[in-house]
Amino acid sequence: MKKSVIVGYGGMGRWHTNKIRENNVVELKGIFDISERANKRAQDAGIYTYDSFESVLNDTDIDLVTVATPNDVHKEIVIALLNAGKNVICEKPVTMTEKDFWEMADAANKNGKVFTVHQNRRWDSDFLLAKQIYENNEMGSVFCIESRVHGSRGIPGDWRGKKEYGGGMMLDWGVHLIDQALMMIPEKVKKLYAKFDHITNYEVDDGFKLDLYFESGLVYRIEVSTSNFISLPRWYILADDGTALFETFSSGAKITKCKEKNEENVIPVVTAAGLTKTMAPRSNDNLITYDMPLASSDVHDFYRNVVDVIDGKSDLIVKHEQIARVLRVMEAAAVSDATNQVVDFE
Ligand SMILES: NC(=O)c1ccc[n+]([C@@H]2O[C@H](COP(=O)([O-])OP(=O)(O)OC[C@H]3O[C@@H](n4cnc5c(N)ncnc54)[C@H](O)[C@@H]3O)[C@@H](O)[C@H]2O)c1
Repeated sequence: MKKSVIVGYGGMGRWHTNKIRENNVVELKGIFDISERANKRAQDAGIYTYDSFESVLNDTDIDLVTVATPNDVHKEIVIALLNAGKNVICEKPVTMTEKDFWEMADAANKNGKVFTVHQNRRWDSDFLLAKQIYENNEMGSVFCIESRVHGSRGIPGDWRGKKEYGGGMMLDWGVHLIDQALMMIPEKVKKLYAKFDHITNYEVDDGFKLDLYFESGLVYRIEVSTSNFISLPRWYILADDGTALFETFSSGAKITKCKEKNEENVIPVVTAAGLTKTMAPRSNDNLITYDMPLASSDVHDFYRNVVDVIDGKSDLIVKHEQIARVLRVMEAAAVSDATNQVVDFE
């Protein structure tokens, strides 16, 4: 078992504590947090608390440190840990710019240490099902994917609402959904267009729409919104021979295909301005509808992989170039939003 420490014992620090306790490859040696409240909470849970960051750096009996602080301090903490000879997992977004990320990666390479980012939504069962539908041509060739998360509570009132801490929904959720898109579609992103929302917060974005235009013509829309009292479905996937819709993270997919594309005797729909056959629904007799269950996945594979890499038995699943590419997309999205232009990408 690798001995690990968590720096930052807030919501995600506690999540890592639970996952470390559940797996059989890593054990928790202690935590470090600058907040008295967080330390008290850890001590009440029977967890050892380091009294300074230096004492973590100086402890030579640690194999792995997980950094789960707010985003603005990831870079300095991670580089200090790598220079002290620790292997490091950093929470997402690893940092705010690609340039800063490569400084962190360089510190890992220079010290010969493992460094990766917790892109845990690669293990989400809804994402894996969407990827399976795309890869297996379940409904023919996919030409459009819409990946959305909608809430109605605005941006959280903590550091996530403040620019200086690396707040905003692009950095919070965007980093996951962009990573998913880039892991699903093995093509270059030729262009992109983004529009950021500022409905409840002007300092940082409280949502955004980002269209990625892939090389084959596939359009992948990512939408994060926090002012939606009626949510649109989590996934909407369009292919030559069918359509998939996932209502929620946990619903699985509903697939609809038709038996005969060229239906005869179409009954027109009456609209205010007249009749339309083009937009008339398909007859039920001509439709094939079925459900697909969520894909199976095991989030513990993330820590298992990191331990295997430390032991020299495997390569990282969450690789440096993949992390950098997500940051490049986020930086280009900010340019697109600021200029209101489609941006050439790869
Ligand atoms: N992967 C995911 O699914 C996921 C989900 C939520 C949050 N996160 C990420 O995890 C990180 C933490 O988010 P959170 O929701 O736990 O935030 P949080 O505010 O709940 O917790 C952050 C903790 O870090 C501590 N902290 C701040 N500065 C510190 C420092 N210099 N040294 C040590 N401790 C420090 C704070 O006192 C606090 O206890 C962020 O990067 C966030 O984006 C990831």
